[in-house]
Amino acid sequence: MDMVDISASIAGQKLQSCLFNAAGAHCVTRGELFDLGKSRAGLILSKSCTLEPRKGNPEPRYKDLPYGSINSMGLPNQGYLFYGKIAKELKQHFSKPYFVSVSGLSFEDNLTIIEHLSQIKEIDALELNLSCPNIPGKPQVGYDFEQTEKLLDAVCKITEMRKKPLGLKLPPYFDFVHFEQMAEIIQRYPVKFVTCVNSIGNALFIDPEEEQVVIKPKGGFGGIGGYYVKPTALANVRKFYELLGNRIQIIGCGGVKTGIDAFEHILAGASAVQIATALVQEGPGCFARIEEELKEFMERKGYEKIEDFRGRLKVMD
Ligand code: SIN
Repeated sequence: MDMVDISASIAGQKLQSCLFNAAGAHCVTRGELFDLGKSRAGLILSKSCTLEPRKGNPEPRYKDLPYGSINSMGLPNQGYLFYGKIAKELKQHFSKPYFVSVSGLSFEDNLTIIEHLSQIKEIDALELNLSCPNIPGKPQVGYDFEQTEKLLDAVCKITEMRKKPLGLKLPPYFDFVHFEQMAEIIQRYPVKFVTCVNSIGNALFIDPEEEQVVIKPKGGFGGIGGYYVKPTALANVRKFYELLGNRIQIIGCGGVKTGIDAFEHILAGASAVQIATALVQEGPGCFARIEEELKEFMERKGYEKIEDFRGRLKVMD
C-alpha cells in the first residue's frame, strides 16, 4: 500500500494527505488544533472566526443521529486574533498547511478580519464561510447572490493586494440555475477553491418518544451533516467541478465516514476532502483509518495517486 499516494495540492500548498477537517469540527481550541497537527490530517483548518470571541448558541446544540448529526453551534470561537496568533506556533510544531476559516457577522467585520489575517505569513490561505445557517437573524450569504458579489468584490481587493489565497465555503444548492448563477459570480474573482458543502441548513429532527426536538437553539432547527447529506454533497462537488473545475479547485465535504466515501468525492471532482461528523464522533484518529481505507480501495482499483481517477465519474449514455 506504500505505492499508493494520497497527497494533494490546494491553493498551491502541498498536503501529504488529501483528507483534513471541516471548519467547525475539532478546531476551536489550541488543544484541538494541536490534535489535528499530530493526526494524519493533511492540513489544519481553524473554526470559522468572528471579530469577537463567541460562546455560541445555548446547549444542547449538537446531537448524533442514526445517519449523521444535527448542530446549531452558533459559531463558538476564540475570535480572529487568536486564530491569527496561533499560526506561528502551529508552524513551529507541524509541517502542514494552516488555513483559517472566516465568518464575520457583518460585511465590515469580514473586511477587518481578512485585512488582519491576510498579513500573517504563517497562514497559508483563508476559507471565507458564506454558509453558516445557525446565527438567528443572519441569512446564509451564499444564498444571496447580490450580497455574495458585493462581499467578494471587497474581500478580493484585500486578498489580492496581500497575495493571500482565498477559498469559499458554500452552502448546498439544489437547482441547476443556482449552481450556474453562483459559478458565474465566483469565476469572476481570483478564488482558488470552493468547499462544497456546509451542512444542509435548518433541518428538523424529532424524537417521537419524547415528542420533542433534539437541540435547543432556534426551536430545534439546525444544520444536518453525515450520511443524510452525502448525495447532495456529491451533486454539489460534481456540478461545481463541471462549471469551475478547470480554473478553481473543489474541496468535497459531506458524509465522509469511510475511505470509499472519500473516493466518491474525488471521483466526482474533489481535489481534497474534508471530514466533519465522523471527526466529531470518532476524534482525530479517523484520519488514519479513512486514509488506510482509501489507499486500500485505490490499490484494489489499480490507482497510484488521486489524479488517476479524480473527476472521472462515468455517466450513462
Ligand atoms: C456553527 O458554528 O453554527 C456551524 C458553522 C457553520 O455551519 O458554518
